[in-house]
Amino acid sequence: MTRRLNYKNELGQHMTPVTIANMLCQQLPRGVTVAIDLAVGDGALLHALRGRWKKIELYGVDCDRERVTRAARLLGPGCAGQGDGLTARLPSRLNATAGRTVLIGNPPYFAVESRDIDLRLQRKAFPGVSSKHGLRRIEMTFFSRALIEARRRKGVVAMILPSAFAAGIQYAPYRAALLEHYRVLKAIEIQDGGYRDTEATTILLIIDTACRPTREVEISRYTVSEDEFAVVYRGRISRDQRLDARYWAGAHLHQMKAPTLGEVGADISRGRRSKAEALKDSQIVLHTTDLCRLEGRRIRLPDLHLETMESNDVDVMAEAKDFLIARTGTRVRWEPIEVAAGSAPISDHVLRIRAPKGFYRAIKASLLHPNFSNWLASISKGVCATVLTKRELLQMPLFAMQGKCNG
Ligand SMILES: C[S@@+](CC[C@H](N)C(=O)[O-])C[C@H]1O[C@@H](n2cnc3c(N)ncnc32)[C@H](O)[C@@H]1O
Repeated sequence: MTRRLNYKNELGQHMTPVTIANMLCQQLPRGVTVAIDLAVGDGALLHALRGRWKKIELYGVDCDRERVTRAARLLGPGCAGQGDGLTARLPSRLNATAGRTVLIGNPPYFAVESRDIDLRLQRKAFPGVSSKHGLRRIEMTFFSRALIEARRRKGVVAMILPSAFAAGIQYAPYRAALLEHYRVLKAIEIQDGGYRDTEATTILLIIDTACRPTREVEISRYTVSEDEFAVVYRGRISRDQRLDARYWAGAHLHQMKAPTLGEVGADISRGRRSKAEALKDSQIVLHTTDLCRLEGRRIRLPDLHLETMESNDVDVMAEAKDFLIARTGTRVRWEPIEVAAGSAPISDHVLRIRAPKGFYRAIKASLLHPNFSNWLASISKGVCATVLTKRELLQMPLFAMQGKCNG
C-alpha cells in the first residue's frame, strides 16, 4: 500500500492568505514586468501581482501536480509548470522582457539532510558563509536560488522566511552576507499570520540584487488581523545587526553613543550545569527561580566556595559585585541582581556579568538605568520562552555613560 503524503507537513503547503499577498505586492518597487515563484502552490502570490501590473509575465513551479493545475487555472495557461523549484529550468521567454524581474516566494519550511544542491546554491548565494545551519533548512535553499536567479536578471527578491532568519543568532553570518552582497530594501515582520502552524511571526525581505552593499533599510511590522502596516525604522544598519521590528523598535538604544559592555571588557559567563545535573551530584546551583523569589535587587549568597571546591573547576561562580540575570525562561525575572556577598555556582540558565576594573559603577548604573528594560525587550527573542544571548548582552550600551568616551 502506498503511503499517503501529509502534504501540509511534508511539502510545507501553507498557502499565503490574500491579505499578505496584497501587502507584499504593494511593498515591491515600481516597474515589475516578470514574476517567478519557485514554489507556487495555488498561485496566490503571483496572482496578487497581476492586480497591480496588468501585463506582467508570470511563471510558477511546484512539485505537486494538483497545485500546478490550480495555479494554471488561476494564472492562465503556460504560467505554471511541475518540477523541483530548486532545479527546474525556467522558460526563456522570461528573460526577454524589458523592466524588472521579481523572484517571489513563500517557500516550504522544513529540515532536510544537507544535500549537494543545498551546498551548491547556498555557497553561491551567500559567499563566504561557512555555517552549516542553513544547509539543513529547505527554505534557505529556495531563498538561495531566488537570489541567484534574480541577480542574473538584475532583479528583486521578495521572500517570506521564518522570523529566525531576521533575529536568530544561527543566521547571523547569512544576514551579514546578505547585507554585504545585495541591497536589502525592506524587512517586514508579519505578525499573527496564523497560516503557518509552527510560526508565530514570519519576515518578508525585499532585496535588490542589482546593487550592493545595503544602505538604508526600512523595517516595518504588519499585523495581519488588523491589516495594519507600521514603519518602525528607516536608516543604516550594520552587518552584525538584526532585521526584526522588535529589535529596531529600540533603534535609539542600539545607536547610542556609549561604550558597550563588550567594549569596556566586561566578562559575561553562563553557568555550565543545569539545576537537575547539579542535583544528581547532590549539589546546589543558583537558578533563575532563586532570582525570582528575591524581594530587592541584591542577593546574599551562602559561601559555597569551600564546600564545592571540586565543582569549582566545572562551575561558574558568582561572587560579590557580580551581576546575575536570567538567560532564558518563561516566567523569570528580567532584572539584573547584584551579588552583595558570598559566592555560589550558577546554573546554565543564568548569566553572570563581571565588571572590569574601573567600570563597576558605570555598569551598575547602566543595569539599573530606565533604558535597560526597553533595551532588553528589543533584543530578547523566542516564541515560547524569551532568550537572552551572551553575544547580545556584550553589545549593551552603558546607558549611564552616554556621550562619554571609553575608559
Ligand atoms: C508554503 S507553500 C506556498 C505556496 C505559494 N507560494 C503561496 O505563497 O501561497 C509551498 C509550496 O511549495 C511546494 N513545494 C515543496 N517542495 C517543493 C519543491 N522541491 N519544488 C517545488 N515546489 C515545492 C509545495 O507543494 C507548496 O505548494
